Amino acid sequence: MKIEVVSGDISTRDTDAVVVNLFEGVTRPGGATGSVDNAMGGAISKLIADGEIKGKKGEITIIHTLGKIAPARVVVAGLGKASDFDAEVIRSVSGELARRLRKIGLTKFSTIAHGAGIGNMEPVDSAQAIAEGTLLGSYEFNKYKSKQDDQTAVEAVEIVEFDDTKMGELRRGVDKGTVLADAVVFSRNMVNEPANYMTPTRMAERALKAAVDSDLDVEILDRPRLQELGMGAFLGVAQGSKEPPKLIVLDYRGDPENADNNLAIVGKGITFDSGGISIKPSERMWEMKGDMAGGAAVISAMKAIGQIKPKINVTGIVAATENMPGGSAQRPGDIVKTMNGKTIEIDNTDAEGRLVLADAVAYAHSLGNRRIVDVATLTGAMVTALGHICSGIFGSDQKLVDQVNEAGDLAGERLWQLPTYPEYKEQYRSDVADMKNVGGRPAGSITGALIIGEFVGDAAWTHIDIAGTSMSSKTDGYVVSGGTGVAVRTLAKLAEVLAESAS
Ligand code: BES
Ligand code: ZN
Ligand code: ZN
Repeated sequence: MKIEVVSGDISTRDTDAVVVNLFEGVTRPGGATGSVDNAMGGAISKLIADGEIKGKKGEITIIHTLGKIAPARVVVAGLGKASDFDAEVIRSVSGELARRLRKIGLTKFSTIAHGAGIGNMEPVDSAQAIAEGTLLGSYEFNKYKSKQDDQTAVEAVEIVEFDDTKMGELRRGVDKGTVLADAVVFSRNMVNEPANYMTPTRMAERALKAAVDSDLDVEILDRPRLQELGMGAFLGVAQGSKEPPKLIVLDYRGDPENADNNLAIVGKGITFDSGGISIKPSERMWEMKGDMAGGAAVISAMKAIGQIKPKINVTGIVAATENMPGGSAQRPGDIVKTMNGKTIEIDNTDAEGRLVLADAVAYAHSLGNRRIVDVATLTGAMVTALGHICSGIFGSDQKLVDQVNEAGDLAGERLWQLPTYPEYKEQYRSDVADMKNVGGRPAGSITGALIIGEFVGDAAWTHIDIAGTSMSSKTDGYVVSGGTGVAVRTLAKLAEVLAESAS
């Protein structure tokens, strides 16, 4: 799909449909909606007066123009209450619109830049949100269906703007939104692939592709190298599978003169989590093909960062392996030694994310990273605590937590902070090793986070648990059922937020 910005009067475009909008409660449409309404002889006002158009968020009304104006249809998109309006509303409405117009077979349509006139939004933000919402809402994963739907695809969308001085900003917004949406799609595709395809080796291949696309350095560390580094916790998880583990390292140097102006983003890349010897129940076990969503988000965010080019050095690290109960799998009671020398007693082999991340964040620290943010589908307890509405965020350094939160706000991905009081650490004390890999049922997400935090040395650290947000069971707005690509936009934005705070 191609998204373009053109100057002119939307009611004169030769296109399948023009999209205008309406806030809830408005009875006399103004701006572009008002001029289309006038050109249509008051058709929109009449529908409002009759109560058929209310402007509720997500409401879509399609009016055939029957030759009154050049476009074949006028589409009125409800934006909800003006007081609740933000970029997230635009993303959501744009996603719904793209699917609805595709469903009726349209291949191209034109839209105004929602909010850039009446809604008090910067044109660049409006255009970015339209691009993200339209591209992400149109997403489909159908490569395994032998019979493709006979549905058409939307090929071209144009944002039409009357005011020529806004063109540059609108184009910048579309470019940025396209880079981010492409990265989110890259992540969704990895998550939606079944585990018999998306092995650690294939994840490494996708990372190589991201490196080529975005001009990043890339290094794949194989088992012998991981052994040399002493990554016993990562290797312990990997030993139950015949798929070889990969430690994927992507590198972006945006501020080569200031090596310390850096950030490591570290992802859990469990391509299938059977639980290992502490095997999971079979019901919904298939969802564990998505246990590499944190790793996918890291690779995809690096792809975006390489194109956005913020002034900061960013290293992306993914610990990719399966967690399987093979004959050489690790057992409860085993003790493993991590690369920084600390030992962990395996209490439950299903708590594998913190094990692979222990070595991955220790590696990030050993490379000299001053800030480490890890992303993981870490705990089922996260779903119990926050459901599917927001991700959990934890951290040792409140400044970094606040910056990640700010990035999430700006990106439109919700995060909610949970505490990391030192008293929780008592729960994972071991009689025989430096710690156990589980801290029992109470506050399971917090103890999981704190175990990872034991391995970051003196770096500022934040952990994002996306167990409840990485997959969606329903299609709504710009979210399509399956992998959501969550955290990609937050991590990319974080690199920008940190780059700006340093200058
Ligand atoms: N990958 C799971 C967590 C998970 C659960 C992610 C549901 C997404 C949806 C993780 O490896 C795991 O199994 N965690 C255990 C930890 C427990 C054994 C301490 C859990 O949450 O039950
Ligand atoms: Zn597990
Ligand atoms: Zn897992």
